[in-house]
Amino acid sequence: MTIQKVGVVGCGLMGGGIAQTCAQSGYETVVREVNQELLDKGLKRIYAAWDMMASKGKITQGQVNENRTRLHGTLNIADFADCDLVIEVVIENMEEKLRLFPVLDATLKPGAIIVSNTSSLNVTQMGAVTKRADKVCGLHFFNPAPVMKLVEVVRTISTSEETINTVKQFALSLGKTPVLAKDTAGFIVNFLLIPYLLSAIRLLENGMASREDIDTAMQLGCGYPMGPLTLLDYVGLDTTLWAAEAIYEEYKDPLYAPPPLLRRMVLSGMFGKKSGKGFYNYQ
Ligand code: CAA
Repeated sequence: MTIQKVGVVGCGLMGGGIAQTCAQSGYETVVREVNQELLDKGLKRIYAAWDMMASKGKITQGQVNENRTRLHGTLNIADFADCDLVIEVVIENMEEKLRLFPVLDATLKPGAIIVSNTSSLNVTQMGAVTKRADKVCGLHFFNPAPVMKLVEVVRTISTSEETINTVKQFALSLGKTPVLAKDTAGFIVNFLLIPYLLSAIRLLENGMASREDIDTAMQLGCGYPMGPLTLLDYVGLDTTLWAAEAIYEEYKDPLYAPPPLLRRMVLSGMFGKKSGKGFYNYQ
């Protein structure tokens, strides 16, 4: 199957980055938010990224204009009716996803594929509330989506081979490198990354090193682009907590048990960069 038109449900940090990537890769892209304020905010961020790319000479003003023409914001799920592939990028909450998937299933044309950008929730369960479980899989992008080269393609026990092949080809057409993972909590990256991030919080919580030294140690000692606490602020403490909880729920392995400090920071609204405060201050 050939993908020509893509829908993206959600225009937050990840949804906006994914919609940007699809539109600048040549796809007609419809991105949906729940209200005009969030949609305007998301589209503004995408336009600013294209202007930044043009100012650096990475794309021409003509390409900026073409990208803008290909990107359509909407508040209405019915506008996904003629999409070939829809990417779900709503909040990491299973109830929300289970409400959305049957609506997408009823709206989309037969044959259209639905993928979830979930980082750790059960994709099989999302497919099971549709009548097209063979056309449902995971397609997990990394933050910042337009820059990070990896996507995880997540196969459920019901996903067809044809769907996996189409989604892999789609990922390649976005300039990404797909890796294939089974639908188990955390897939590949978060299965490995979450224990590392939580360990950094435990180090800080137990007073074993300062936040700056923890970050410097991993940046310079391992050559990582960001230290773990900076990365946590960048990914979002709330997102990390949901991912840790989902993987802990599946395996009951203490490696994934959220440290008390993480939970308290999230309860206090300290989500990291997006809320202006996390392990560091961004105000
Ligand atoms: N659109 C297009 N280009 C963008 C962009 C956007 N939205 N955002 C950044 N860029 C470009 C910049 O223009 C810049 O390009 P040049 O190098 O050509 O000038 C390049 O990306 C790097 O950006 P910056 O110069 O602003 O900053 P940097 O060099 O410090 O890199 C970073 C920033 C790419 C985020 C880097 O620090 C990094 O790789 N950090 C680690 C990120 C990471 O690990 N992400 C995965 C998190 S896990 C996750 O997301 C999954 C999950 O489920 C939790």
